Amino acid sequence: MNTNHNFINSLDRNALVTFVTAGYPTIEDTVPILKGFQEGGVDIIELGVPFSDPIADGPTIQVANTTALDNGVTVIKTLELVKKAREEGVTLPIVLMGYYNPVLQYGEEKFIKDAYKAGANGSIIVDLPPEEAVKFRNLSAEAGFSYIPLVAPSTTDERLEVLSQIADSFIYVVSRMGTTGVSGGVSVGITDLVARVRKFSGKTPLAVGFGVSTRQDFINVGKLSDGIVIGSKVINVVGEAKFGEAGDAIKAYVKEILDNREVSPVNLVTSDDYEKKESFTFEETHKFPSRFGEFGGQYVPEILHACLRELEKAFEDAVADPSFWEEFRSLYQYIGRPSSFHKAERLTEHAGGAQIWLKREDLNHTGSHKINNALAQVLIAKRLGKTEIIAETGAGQHGVATATACAKFGLKCTVYMGAEDVRRQALNVFRMKILGADVVAVTNGTKTLRDATSEAFRNWVTNLKTTHYVVGSAIGPHPYPTLVRTFQSVIGNEAKAQFKELNDGKLPNAIVACVGGGSNSTGIFSPFEHDTEVELLGVEAGGDGLDTGVHSATLTVGEPGVFHGVKTYVLQDKDGQIHDTHSVSAGLDYPGVGPELAAWKASGRAKFIAATDAQALEGFRLLSQLEGIIPALESSHAVYGGIQLAKSLSSDKHIIINVSGRGDKDVQSVAEVLPKLGPKIDWDLRFETFQ
Ligand SMILES: Cc1ncc(COP(=O)(O)O)c(C=O)c1O
Repeated sequence: MNTNHNFINSLDRNALVTFVTAGYPTIEDTVPILKGFQEGGVDIIELGVPFSDPIADGPTIQVANTTALDNGVTVIKTLELVKKAREEGVTLPIVLMGYYNPVLQYGEEKFIKDAYKAGANGSIIVDLPPEEAVKFRNLSAEAGFSYIPLVAPSTTDERLEVLSQIADSFIYVVSRMGTTGVSGGVSVGITDLVARVRKFSGKTPLAVGFGVSTRQDFINVGKLSDGIVIGSKVINVVGEAKFGEAGDAIKAYVKEILDNREVSPVNLVTSDDYEKKESFTFEETHKFPSRFGEFGGQYVPEILHACLRELEKAFEDAVADPSFWEEFRSLYQYIGRPSSFHKAERLTEHAGGAQIWLKREDLNHTGSHKINNALAQVLIAKRLGKTEIIAETGAGQHGVATATACAKFGLKCTVYMGAEDVRRQALNVFRMKILGADVVAVTNGTKTLRDATSEAFRNWVTNLKTTHYVVGSAIGPHPYPTLVRTFQSVIGNEAKAQFKELNDGKLPNAIVACVGGGSNSTGIFSPFEHDTEVELLGVEAGGDGLDTGVHSATLTVGEPGVFHGVKTYVLQDKDGQIHDTHSVSAGLDYPGVGPELAAWKASGRAKFIAATDAQALEGFRLLSQLEGIIPALESSHAVYGGIQLAKSLSSDKHIIINVSGRGDKDVQSVAEVLPKLGPKIDWDLRFETFQ
């Protein structure tokens, strides 16, 4: 199969580019749909490679992704479908469109080679940042495979220049900020956007998408651009077609869009005719490093980049401004800082080893460490002139902290929460509502923190002008991991000073913290990072046990990958789809983890273990009954891990356990799991009804 470039230039009319997800609505429908495209007069096909967490897509394409994955579609299966389409007479250029992680797990070079062999002509990778896109494009160019960059209204001139240079066949121009599937035509700013892109793209053709669904849209957009992309509407048409009739339905739809124009297939040029461009590199500059070793970065759809750039600048300015720190520190009274620090006498006695100290973030206002970061980010949002705040939450603690900060500073607050977590953490949902926040139950995907995070990102790109997204953990794309760790490091700085004061200026031997995304652990670990004699131990959620696959122990058993905008350890299958997770504690129920922790794991600076649900419950009981402190179930993992560590050390050693939050929110969950987990730890406690 010949590779072709300049697909659009070889036409003397507006090209119609149509998107469909491979394997949607069924695997059997895909080849007939591609044939329907061709027979109806389409010029270029975009075939979606499904991904479990498509953050740039609206509900229509999300459902198509989920359905395709349920149908068993993988990268290999997608390539088989391309091959079959070629065998059955589809000659149009086929461009594979998807997210980076499945390609990364498949192997980039192998993906390009196998896709080319199957008969595909190029690829669009939605969340590949320019510096990586340049490398991927260079590999593609060697194989005669095309790379199609995406640009958005927010793309800077600097990036437009690079992205234009790496475009081999055409550039995909996203017409509006937001996710796919927003109807109502393309945005009014499209004329200016196309003119701006053309300044850099020269003769490279442009295809405009997002918001196109009717013949009139096709005509209007065609006045400006060379090609017009239709995606969500195609998904609707094939999704609504009668069983087995998707191909015919899409052919009829395409004919309507093209007003039955005569079909003259695009003229493919061979790879020999393709003028190879020089390979080159690109690196964006950041004041604070955007990576921690090989982890970190900004793997986001181009539309999200503007949000991150604005935030990065605001963060840099804030931390360089003494008045910002003064304002933040003036809130310490409100939070209850410094949080207290003391020896856990009876727990130490129980463990019979090292001395155990507790850092009491559970005593903070709102009951956890999350308030430190929430207040700091709300201050940054105010500096940016934002009036609305969005946040994701798992356990509800970050949601409560953000709702609290918004109430204090008079900002509108919307919290996204997985529907399953809404159920598990009903008390916190009510607290957020009392504080004046709106709580949106996210019902797609696994209905937990991961889906709430995706939904918050989607909302952010749509409402960037007015809205700041307060991410609750040290996760996500740069600058979030650095930003969150910076504001949470108050925990470690205080603990260090408090320990020294009580121990003749010495340092502790180890610090223990639970790990969900990494905000409390990076917060307490980072001030000790360079004190290499201090051991850093993170405790993840081992759920039902690591051998069951039902857990959230990302660093312990995950693999490097790209998820929610960052390269880090991820719980995923071999096709790069993100795993469902489980933990008794909603706040640890997340398949990714902060990139700084990933780098510390890689370098050996920190160690990570997992505590099962039952072991966490044991920690919960011990701290409650030996110290009179009911910890959050998240923190209970650290308590359990800390006791095990203390047992292995002599009594002249000292460890600090970070009690990241209090357990009031978990009382109901504990009552629910006790019948199952109680017998495992010999805890026969029941709720009794008193008459
Ligand atoms: C009390 C508490 N501790 C820990 C966590 C886990 O998050 P992280 O790893 O970001 O500290 C949460 C998350 O909701 C929490 O509520």
